[in-house]
Amino acid sequence: PRPILLTRHGESLDNVRGRIGGDNVLSSNLTEVILTCYDSDTGDIYAKKLANFVEKRLKSERAASIWTSTLQRTIITASPIAGFPKIQWRALDEINAGVCDGMTYEEIKKNMPEEYDSRKKDKLRYRYPRGESYLDVIQRLEPVIIELERQRAPVVVISHQAVLRALYAYFADRPLKEIPHIEMPLHTIIEIQMGVTGVQEKRYKLMD
Ligand code: F6P
Repeated sequence: PRPILLTRHGESLDNVRGRIGGDNVLSSNLTEVILTCYDSDTGDIYAKKLANFVEKRLKSERAASIWTSTLQRTIITASPIAGFPKIQWRALDEINAGVCDGMTYEEIKKNMPEEYDSRKKDKLRYRYPRGESYLDVIQRLEPVIIELERQRAPVVVISHQAVLRALYAYFADRPLKEIPHIEMPLHTIIEIQMGVTGVQEKRYKLMD
């Protein structure tokens, strides 16, 4: 059976600052690029470790491919990986936070308390003004899932927290209502194997 490897992008400056969404050339860079602003290179180190892992793990898998979103932080995370074709999917982009894009959760709570409360009450169905809900994300992932199931070769999916929660839930058969709350840590690869006896899962934490 062929594995599907799921991972979030390496830590970005927005992650460090607690800002959601974003695709700004500077702030969505992985931590490293702007050493003068933030003295951590965790995101960049992860990208290199991931490349190493993928190149070893999929060494003899000639038809394997790397799928990213269209957002800089996943494309940059994939960039050190050599030897496999890379495909960008808009459907793998992070949940669109609409008017809240670029804000921290504290800022949303302070400036838009009703929005904050509605999301807290029903995170699955809550749709950001001019943005998306988890249900929207789940729906737009359908073509990705169809294509993933059709693949005969391994696929590495480098995407984002909300999207990976939804993808993972599909393969791990987790109920819809749990999706927005599934733990999806940075710098961890979730390997899913679909065999005749069901789905098997392995996790590789590449950073402490
Ligand atoms: O904070 C990183 C991030 O990927 C944001 O871009 C996104 O809005 C958020 O996670 C999704 O997680 P949650 O649904 O828990 O807010």
